[in-house]
Amino acid sequence: MTATQITLVKSSWKMVAADADAAGALFYNRLFDIAPELKPMFKADITEQSKKLMYMIGYVINKLDKLDDVIGEVAAMAKRHAGYGVRDEHYTIVGSALLWTLEKGLAEHWTEEVKTAWITCYTLLSSSMIQAAKAA
Ligand code: HEM
Repeated sequence: MTATQITLVKSSWKMVAADADAAGALFYNRLFDIAPELKPMFKADITEQSKKLMYMIGYVINKLDKLDDVIGEVAAMAKRHAGYGVRDEHYTIVGSALLWTLEKGLAEHWTEEVKTAWITCYTLLSSSMIQAAKAA
């Protein structure tokens, strides 16, 4: 990611995370709308799950300029995900629900540049999770 993309992802996430509960709810509603078959994988309370997801995205984004610091945590998270039954193809579905959520949450701030920055960011994160799950 370029420095500009990192800045764009950080600043746009700040806007969305200002109402993290709403963004989380929007995300899971969208996810279960486009992929209802994923719903049974989520056993825990979805409000709690939503908080964990939002926290983790924020945490990783904060470290986008020094990803080496979090690569171990991302790998461990990927391995736990394999244990939840998460497969490679699920990352694409989750990515599209995430982009949709960002688009809704950011409204006029969702520009082509912001979109490209987020696609790059999610691709980076999801491909490192997929790789780590494979290596396990
Ligand atoms: C960038 C990608 C993702 C991030 C940052 C993320 C983040 C998280 C976090 C922080 C948790 C809490 C438990 C833990 O840390 O192990 C979690 C749980 C979970 N995630 Fe993800 N996740 C991602 C992708 C996915 C994908 C692609 C799926 C596929 C459906 C998925 C399904 C789940 C499930 C089923 C749980 C367990 C829920 C439960 O115990 O009820 N996640 N995720």
